[in-house]
Amino acid sequence: MLLHHASWPEVEAYLERSKAVVIPVGSTEQHGPNGLIGTDAICPEVIAKRASELTNMLIAPTFNVGMAQHHMGFSGSMTLRPSTMIAAIFDWASSLARHGFDRLYFFNGHGGNIATLQSAFSEIHADRSLGRPGANREGLQCKLVNWWDFRPVLDFCRETYGSAHGSHATPSEVAITYAAFPHAVKETAMEPAIAPSGRFTDAEDYRAKFPDGRIGSDPSLARIEDGKKLIELSATAMARDFEAFAKQQ
Ligand code: NI
Repeated sequence: MLLHHASWPEVEAYLERSKAVVIPVGSTEQHGPNGLIGTDAICPEVIAKRASELTNMLIAPTFNVGMAQHHMGFSGSMTLRPSTMIAAIFDWASSLARHGFDRLYFFNGHGGNIATLQSAFSEIHADRSLGRPGANREGLQCKLVNWWDFRPVLDFCRETYGSAHGSHATPSEVAITYAAFPHAVKETAMEPAIAPSGRFTDAEDYRAKFPDGRIGSDPSLARIEDGKKLIELSATAMARDFEAFAKQQ
């Protein structure tokens, strides 16, 4: 069930049987010459929607602009400062907690969000730890899961793309967006075939080291059929993981 498509009595009824909710977290940033700027938001959203057909789960709106300062050298990228994102995640979590949700499953699509999300969780826990003694507020459990981190997904990527998978604008994430939106498929030659790898700091540094936006990948290998398989693999594992999280004490 999507929160945006539910009525308040439906959410109230859901809370009678579960206090767990999924929050897809993405980013709005360049994904190389043939990747959609919405890739990191689209992937967790599409996979979560598929998972919600497999098991009962409530899906909050997608947090779709993340921490992407290093991509700002490319047209169309948008970012929140880490401090802004921490504050916004805190308010999203507090809003849901106000209604009784106490298991927040953050389903992430962008590696650059990880450190900031973990800091946001510390902010959420600190708010309770520093609260008035005896206030007896319930604690929140926050879980961060990246859509690509399930074993069957990792195995598929290794077997299908090998050393051409890379770490940004990967063929797997581009394939998922093509499967979700076939009209947006872009045919673009890659030069060199596999992009360079390495570390980066700010937007200028990133653009100088990775001129077309990719890191270590050849996203011309992205195929709709593989994207469909990746959605199934990740959604199946995610549904199981969410069920366990929802029951966890
Ligand atoms: Ni990405």
